[in-house]
Amino acid sequence: MSKNQMVVAALTAVVPELSPAEIDEKMETPKTAKLGDWAFPTFTLAKLYKKAPQQIAADLVEKIDKSNFEKVVATGPYINFFLDKMATAKLTIASILEAGEHYGDNQDGQAGNVTIDMSSPNIAKPMSMGHLRSTVIGNSLANITAKNGYQPVRINHLGDWGTQFGKLIYAYKTWGNEAEVKADPIGTLLRYYVEFHEKAKDDDSLNDAGRAWFKKLEDGDPEAQELWKWFRNESLKEFTTIYDRLGIDFDSFNGEAFYNDKMDGVVEQLVDKKLLVKSQGAEIVDLSDIDPNLTPAMIKRSDGATLYMTRDLAAAIYRKETYNFVKSLYVVGGEQREHFVQLRAVLSLMGMPWADDIEHIAFGLITFNGKKMSTRKGDVVLLKDVLDDAHQLALAQIQEKNPDLTNKELVAEQVGAGAVVFHDLMNDRKNNFDFNLEEVVRFEGDTGPYVQYTNARAQSILRKAQREIDLSDLDLDDAQTWDIITTLGNFPQTVKRAWDNREPSVIAKYALLLARNFNKYYANSKILTDDQQLNARLALVAAVSTVLTESLRLLGVQAPSEM
Ligand code: ARG
Repeated sequence: MSKNQMVVAALTAVVPELSPAEIDEKMETPKTAKLGDWAFPTFTLAKLYKKAPQQIAADLVEKIDKSNFEKVVATGPYINFFLDKMATAKLTIASILEAGEHYGDNQDGQAGNVTIDMSSPNIAKPMSMGHLRSTVIGNSLANITAKNGYQPVRINHLGDWGTQFGKLIYAYKTWGNEAEVKADPIGTLLRYYVEFHEKAKDDDSLNDAGRAWFKKLEDGDPEAQELWKWFRNESLKEFTTIYDRLGIDFDSFNGEAFYNDKMDGVVEQLVDKKLLVKSQGAEIVDLSDIDPNLTPAMIKRSDGATLYMTRDLAAAIYRKETYNFVKSLYVVGGEQREHFVQLRAVLSLMGMPWADDIEHIAFGLITFNGKKMSTRKGDVVLLKDVLDDAHQLALAQIQEKNPDLTNKELVAEQVGAGAVVFHDLMNDRKNNFDFNLEEVVRFEGDTGPYVQYTNARAQSILRKAQREIDLSDLDLDDAQTWDIITTLGNFPQTVKRAWDNREPSVIAKYALLLARNFNKYYANSKILTDDQQLNARLALVAAVSTVLTESLRLLGVQAPSEM
């Protein structure tokens, strides 16, 4: 999708030496509206035409077909295009209503699989707000990936292996009981885990006992295995209720344990390539050749137990073999930066040419009303509680604004969950941010409900109008709509930018801008007045709703038609 089809077409006709894509790439938005809507710099043509850029700009302006523009002028080395507002409005609205949800689809993508490691919570612990970010950023990136012509593969790399399960098994066997776990699996397991850490503070032998149980688990001890499976199942059940509420599906739940039988192969390769060295009993890969500041990657502990890194190496190789990805994204908090630098470094030392396709999609910390969360101390904010509270806050506002709405509970769920997701995505992902639920669920301001409400308002106008839109009658001569038209026209490049930057906030900010533009127009105009331009205005409203709905879908947020 080009930035502006009319400008690209006009230039292609007079500069056949450049492809439309090359022209599109060079187009800029001028700093002020006085210089028009689009500018094309002619510097690169100087060599080709053996003339000064100023001269080239002046010559091309003579030749360009200006019928689709208000004017086209040369300003020094630039060609400035002033769009004909009526022609642009017509073209923009028509292309949106014709393409529907496919408006903005990016066909430049060379296609191919993109694996997205996302959510990946640790089992036997409740899913906290901390994992929310990975889940919703990952899901939105997957939608954006698909919109840009690739095939996303959503992978939940469950944290279902590691020493903490040894600790948990020890705690369960020492002071736990079955009935208690059955009554409230996750809550109880979390309590055991917290108690373990409290007791271990005064008695280090607990840590040894925990490690010993993990070793048993790794060695296939039946009792340890059985308990582990039970804990894992209960956890998955609980996670799934949350994924369902957020409308998120996964293509794979292969977690860390899945790689247990795939790690020997990795270790062998490391040995063959003479990369594995012993260091204080442990086995490591030295990475100082790649970067002198990089600490070595730990592959095996001194007791022979494998590590997070070893499983990630096996997983990376497995994903390449299984999906032959063109990119492999890992949506994981910024605090794991070094881990992913190490992962790439080891893979490139192993001679994997695709190591560079691995990208750590880092994100900042989420605090909850100013507090940081920690599972070890037990002061964790449960995502389930957040969603329940958001639901209630949304419901209260719906009761007040639209008491006659028939499916209030359903809409309250869509608005509550949507508010939480939208808020998470509207900030640049690397920023830290605080979460205050009252603000997040408000129907006004920079919120998801505000965008949803704007869309519902557009839908309500279309319902009231009760007529079919005629695509052959789109003459709209109304200066008030110009901001909406240009914003609508920018959607395709916004989709592309969101992918290029791996940044859902680009879409969220865009949706807020479009909603604000539309509300300003709505406040100052009588859309439903029965005059000659009624059809064109309704078409504009339908186009706004189409693009708002699609933006929300890319974010993983529902768009109720009434609220
Ligand atoms: N379970 C890990 C955690 O909660 C995140 C896993 C991320 N994915 C990965 N392939 N390492 O910290």
